[in-house]
Amino acid sequence: MKNIVILISGRGSNMEAVVRAAENEGWPARIAAVISNKPEAKGLEFAKARGIPTAVVANKDFSSRAEFDAALQESIDRFAPDLVVLAGFMRILTAPFVAHYEGRMLNIHPSLLPLFPGLGTHQQALDAGETEHGATVHFVTAELDHGPVVAQARVPVLPDDTEDTLSARVLVEEHKLYPHAVRLFVEDRLSITDGEVRITNAAPAETTSI
Ligand code: GRF
Repeated sequence: MKNIVILISGRGSNMEAVVRAAENEGWPARIAAVISNKPEAKGLEFAKARGIPTAVVANKDFSSRAEFDAALQESIDRFAPDLVVLAGFMRILTAPFVAHYEGRMLNIHPSLLPLFPGLGTHQQALDAGETEHGATVHFVTAELDHGPVVAQARVPVLPDDTEDTLSARVLVEEHKLYPHAVRLFVEDRLSITDGEVRITNAAPAETTSI
């Protein structure tokens, strides 16, 4: 049984997708806690309603990134996580924090990395005239929105798309992609060699994208 701690900052729809998949598909894993850096994060309500332990470590209470990350790490480690899942967790993390969870922390980013790291990805994809956009799940490394890619999901960019319509289309895929990737970790099917993720016993659909 693997312990998963999920970090959120807001809506928490990706957290919800992972929680539901873990339950519905009977993963050998438990969602040990959902932790937010924002007391008002909507996703905390869903977690509480499901009986999942929640915690808030509010970044506004700390004067430096290092102090906040140390407090966050302490809060996370109380739940002895095998995996930390960043699900819309809107913080730049310090190198010691990232190193502490090396190989056991995943993030979802709403673009086809390495395209468009950082914020405003949907508008950037539109501005660049991309015909395809999507989302990426990757292991977290010290460089923001980099790190070995576990899986990607692709959507078309349509001629009359706005930031809202495009982000909604990507989000539908995120809700399938993230549970898929977390499940691969839970089943011990991911390894990293020379900075690249390998999936053991991969079905053809699992190797590059879903
Ligand atoms: C998602 O688009 C995710 O890719 C990005 O932030 C958004 C979070 O949405 N990192 P939610 O909180 O999971 O609903």
